[in-house]
Amino acid sequence: MEQPLIEITADGSPTLYLPKMDEHYHSVKGALAESLHVFIQTGFRHSILCPLTIFEVGFGTGLNAFLTLLESETSQRKVTYYTIELYPLSTEQVNMLQYPQIIAPENTFYFEAIHQAEWNTPIKISPYFTIHKIKGDLTRISLPSESFGLIYYDAFAPEKQPDMWSEEIFSKISDAMSPGGILTTYCAKGEVRRRLQQSGLTVERLPGPPGGKREILRATKL
Ligand SMILES: C[S@@+](CC[C@H](N)C(=O)[O-])C[C@H]1O[C@@H](n2cnc3c(N)ncnc32)[C@H](O)[C@@H]1O
Repeated sequence: MEQPLIEITADGSPTLYLPKMDEHYHSVKGALAESLHVFIQTGFRHSILCPLTIFEVGFGTGLNAFLTLLESETSQRKVTYYTIELYPLSTEQVNMLQYPQIIAPENTFYFEAIHQAEWNTPIKISPYFTIHKIKGDLTRISLPSESFGLIYYDAFAPEKQPDMWSEEIFSKISDAMSPGGILTTYCAKGEVRRRLQQSGLTVERLPGPPGGKREILRATKL
């Protein structure tokens, strides 16, 4: 993966930009606003499962993982957080973003612990939050059946990485969701919606984050 650049998004929070791929890690209309809205508000807070097992597609900067840890502590819900990443960022790249300093300076050590956590093994980070970072390729890995109550689908956009939004991937993801499980994603494209439906999920179009995308998706395995 090429060297990413830092960009400040519309809500003042930073993200990373990959010039050759011409792709950002988060919405330029607000990185923090997008993560909070799509994954915490529409996903985590909507799910009633406790304990909750989450699978995130694309660990990236660790922003979603950090926000979920903070939410698990305030709501006192036990979370096991699986996340897959094929191209891990370096500590220097992640530190430049200063996410904990912007979001919750008193919890900086949790952000660092998430990043320092060994790959491919479960690591308890805080009383309510255990992370299991998988270094691997989502297009090749097999996932356990009916195991995840919540999926954060946060791959790069379909125009940039179509193989991450294929029917095969969604059918694998759908199989891995437990009954009643939900998936949220920032991408509301018609073809993505149809593929989620074809994989057996019931899909809702919901309003996007303030100042951001018009619509996002939430898919449920009934
Ligand atoms: C939109 S970014 C994720 C942002 C991240 N959730 C965060 O909070 O910063 C997409 C991520 O998917 C990763 N990725 C790309 N191809 C992948 C693959 N085949 N398997 C697993 N991860 C992949 C990228 O390296 C990138 O970190």
